Amino acid sequence: MTDTGGLERIDTSVAHPARRYNYWLGGKDNFAADRESGDAIAKVYPAIRTTALENRAFLRRAVQYLAEEAGIRQFLDIGTGIPTADNTHEVAQSIAPDSRIVYVDNDPIVLTHARALLSSTPQGATAYIDADLRDPAAILAHDSVRQTLNFDEPIALMLIAIVHFLFDEHHPRETVRHLIDALPPGSYVVMTHGTSDFADPALRAHVEAEIRAGRLRLDAVPRSKDEIAAFLEGLDIVEPGIAPVVEWRNPVPESDRPPLADAALYAVVARVP
Ligand SMILES: C[S@@+](CC[C@H](N)C(=O)[O-])C[C@H]1O[C@@H](n2cnc3c(N)ncnc32)[C@H](O)[C@@H]1O
Repeated sequence: MTDTGGLERIDTSVAHPARRYNYWLGGKDNFAADRESGDAIAKVYPAIRTTALENRAFLRRAVQYLAEEAGIRQFLDIGTGIPTADNTHEVAQSIAPDSRIVYVDNDPIVLTHARALLSSTPQGATAYIDADLRDPAAILAHDSVRQTLNFDEPIALMLIAIVHFLFDEHHPRETVRHLIDALPPGSYVVMTHGTSDFADPALRAHVEAEIRAGRLRLDAVPRSKDEIAAFLEGLDIVEPGIAPVVEWRNPVPESDRPPLADAALYAVVARVP
């Protein structure tokens, strides 16, 4: 069989989170349906681009914290996205060249970019697997995961801007728990998750009205701080806790940061005891 690298599975007529996110970040790997969906969301929530950029900035800070301060050398990054600046392996290996990273995504367009994600340092390793967060057992059993990561040593499970794509019928708590239960003590979970906690009530009411009128369709579910905390029950939450993404260990002075409502994500790093 010819390996088409997933190209045959790309449906350009339907918006995909990875390509829409790429559009918001100013990338070129997106199609008309992604831009239309991205613009429809930006119309009711213009700060979505700021949200995407702040999410990416958090990813850098979190990997830096893990590699530099927590001594983590293994990363399981689920919901990789289309490669952009400062991918997980680049940040981790710039600090610790022996870092080993497995990327996971279910979007075939990310698969076509996998090569760009596999440019490891000689001392470290990277792998990419085409798999779905909704099937955590398949991720954990995958040969590339088992060959690249040592489950007797701490691993950082990265769930950056992905868990909000799991609606309650996808059993997100059980899914995240399944993955956490596979991690050895001393591992970490890193998560950002969409929220409407910082939105002003007028914007919330407007978005709800647009959804009811059929003019806006959200494929993600915002969750409250308590709902996000429930994913991490029993873990030790690293300071400053479950925080607005712009606030999590951000060296940028408060006066130069965007307002909380312009980056509608919570960010958290938690340690497996
Ligand atoms: C908003 S992007 C975030 C990319 C990257 N983690 C970051 O924060 O910059 C979400 C990514 O999750 C992927 N994704 C969404 N649902 C998924 C699922 N059920 N299984 C695997 N990947 C998924 C999308 O394809 C997309 O690449």
